[in-house]
Amino acid sequence: MHKNKLTIAILFGVSSFTLGCNNSTEQNAATTPIVEKAPEQSTLKARFKDHFKIGTAISRDQILGVLPDDLNVAKAQFNTFTPENSMKWERIHPQPDVYDFEAPDALVEYAQENNQELVGHTLVWHSQTPDWVFEDEQGEPLTREALLKRMQDHIFTVAGRYRDRIFAWDVVNEALNEDGTLRESKWSTIIGDDFIEYAFTYAKQAAPNAKLYYNDYNLYKPEKRAGALALIKNLQSKGIQIDGIGMQAHYSLDNPELSLMEDSIVAYAATGIDVMITELDISVLPFPESEEQGADISLDIALQERFNPYPDGLPSEVNKQLGKRYKEVFAILKKHGDKISRVTFWGVSDARTWRNDWPMQGRTDYPLLIDRELKLKSFVNDL
Ligand code: XIL
Repeated sequence: MHKNKLTIAILFGVSSFTLGCNNSTEQNAATTPIVEKAPEQSTLKARFKDHFKIGTAISRDQILGVLPDDLNVAKAQFNTFTPENSMKWERIHPQPDVYDFEAPDALVEYAQENNQELVGHTLVWHSQTPDWVFEDEQGEPLTREALLKRMQDHIFTVAGRYRDRIFAWDVVNEALNEDGTLRESKWSTIIGDDFIEYAFTYAKQAAPNAKLYYNDYNLYKPEKRAGALALIKNLQSKGIQIDGIGMQAHYSLDNPELSLMEDSIVAYAATGIDVMITELDISVLPFPESEEQGADISLDIALQERFNPYPDGLPSEVNKQLGKRYKEVFAILKKHGDKISRVTFWGVSDARTWRNDWPMQGRTDYPLLIDRELKLKSFVNDL
């Protein structure tokens, strides 16, 4: 301190007399910070930096500048992005000879410029994939060889385009049934169960430095967990690279039982691959009892008012329950921070979460940590 004062005094030719006179002012200046720096923990990415990356899904409108406030908040709060829809087959490759790279290119560029780790979503999935993918020009089902060729072309074109600019790919999405058996889909029916092996092999060839993931919902369930473990171990036993498993985590206030989520995290990590929570949201709305809670996007139940109880705002009691639920979830995730590399929310804010429209269109849900005014919810301070 003394040395500094002396240097300043010499530099500006200030006499010791002047210094003496100014002494009390200087002391005040030393104890009163002039500029308050925003505290580190004010962003989500800073809050969880010692545990895992923290991310969000990004929509086409957000990336193409239609919703600049959303994008600014996303950039400030998160350090990893996943495109919500724009890299899915029906969007990026809508017709046999048509690719639409507008939003994906913009996203890749934005992520690079703004230091966001980008996860491509998704290369092979039974949903949001056009029918033509599985048919020849006469509308007849493709042969196994022809569909494998089509899968390879798609993966080479898409994953190859962003070869060293996309950190990771959800190579295969939702290939399992709830009981852990392989889902019957056009992929599995036409190609056979080994379509997963081919998808990972092609992805490795197209983007040799990208991390390669399997992604699915309800992976907390013991039966589905067994199926996912078998899937991982099958690839590993054949020397096919798989780097991680994404647990989607479309949850609600009472589902699932969190000890099951924890058991799954531990079991997946024991195979030696990364575990990620890839699509986190916690709905506060009642889920129709007749349906399985999960994330089957083909569910579209007719809107009924009793399933939309908070159209004008969330009662503080329910917001408290949501905060408590998030606290319990994050306590487990932080406890296993050594196994979990990333936690991604499925949307930036409550204003535009898919939960407002799934499994019933037109509801008002509150499943994320950022509210409709783009403010962090106050319970975030407890996470
Ligand atoms: C959802 C999107 O959020 C919606 O906008 C779209 O209409 C349907 O798909 N599992 C996934 C995600 O892997 O891609 C889905 O995203 C939600 C369930």
